[in-house]
Amino acid sequence: MNPGAQPRTRKKMLATLDGEVFAKPPMWLMRQAGRYLPEYREVRGQAGSFLDLCFNPKLAAEVTLQPIRRFGFDAAILFSDILVVPHALGQKVSFEEGYGPRLEPILNEKTVAQFRTFDIERLSSVLEAVSLVKAALPSETTFIGFCGSPWTVASYMIAGAGSKDLAAVRTFAFRHPNAFAGLIETLVAASVEYLVAQARAGVEVVQIFDSWAGLLPVDQFVAWCVEPTARIVRELRAQAPGLKIICFPREAGSKLKSFVAGVDADCLALGTAEDVGVVRSQLGSNVTLQGNLDPLALVAGGVALEDSVRRVRGAFEGAPYIFNLGHGILPETPIAHVERLIELVRAD
Ligand code: CP3
Repeated sequence: MNPGAQPRTRKKMLATLDGEVFAKPPMWLMRQAGRYLPEYREVRGQAGSFLDLCFNPKLAAEVTLQPIRRFGFDAAILFSDILVVPHALGQKVSFEEGYGPRLEPILNEKTVAQFRTFDIERLSSVLEAVSLVKAALPSETTFIGFCGSPWTVASYMIAGAGSKDLAAVRTFAFRHPNAFAGLIETLVAASVEYLVAQARAGVEVVQIFDSWAGLLPVDQFVAWCVEPTARIVRELRAQAPGLKIICFPREAGSKLKSFVAGVDADCLALGTAEDVGVVRSQLGSNVTLQGNLDPLALVAGGVALEDSVRRVRGAFEGAPYIFNLGHGILPETPIAHVERLIELVRAD
């Protein structure tokens, strides 16, 4: 390269994950492919069940690309679900319209032992979707893969459904600590194998979704969230060098400090209720942050949206950060509000 040449342009999202600060941050939205988009609803209608859509490489690739075509977000996230991992462990998983996920619940130490073997062949169609998306993405768009954290996936595996208070999984972990640790260990190994396979098929970043991290007391948070996630990240660093890692220990609040001390992530995603100022004062600016607009402000639109975006941008200003929601976009979100959001984030 001659001395006056500019460095090769890098994707904004990857540069931000390396610590670069932009006045106009890169942006994407959690659950950006989904029911608020008419083009998603159309493909979803053709596909059959939600899992049929996840396991159809062409259609999964198509819905991954829809929000990129429509909005030009800085990153595409693979269309799939965290519960394909229990499926590949041999647990029956289905999604019921208007109810959410249903799995055959794990009742005791004996039934937990049935789910030890992760068969990645059962996810070959997901990896095929990754290759299809990779081939079709614009050169400036970053490609994100993902999995659920062992704790969050285990919460669905034990209860057999979503749960507000996590009573089933927390009781199980108290009653059967060894069996529960075995399940977490299985999920650590499965997550590593799955994310490394996604990286080999073309994702540049992975996000580990720990939706239910915030509910745990600190000692259990360290045992079931921090330590297993730290093991996944260590293995990824060894087996997929260069892969960027975003962790989302949702609403961990004051426990974020122990998360950052234990887990070597490139970026920490913050839930809607986190106080960004407090997080920044506690963590310093070594780690890139992502978040955390209230998805309901996006549903409401108008002044509420304008004020909320201003507040979020102000709170993260000067730090390397990726603009996102604090949780997934809601199906009732008007498309015009997403368009306005993009104008606001990309405005001077
Ligand atoms: O972000 C994206 O666009 C990528 C796709 C994605 C989905 N689920 C698609 C989906 C991702 C990253 C997920 C992660 C996921 N799945 C999480 C972690 C993030 C979070 O929201 O806390 C969790 C807990 C799940 C489990 C899950 N999947 C639930 C509880 C539900 C039902 C609730 C709902 O919104 O309907 C799902 C279904 C699901 N996963 C849908 C989508 C688009 C809706 C299904 C449909 O289209 O009918």
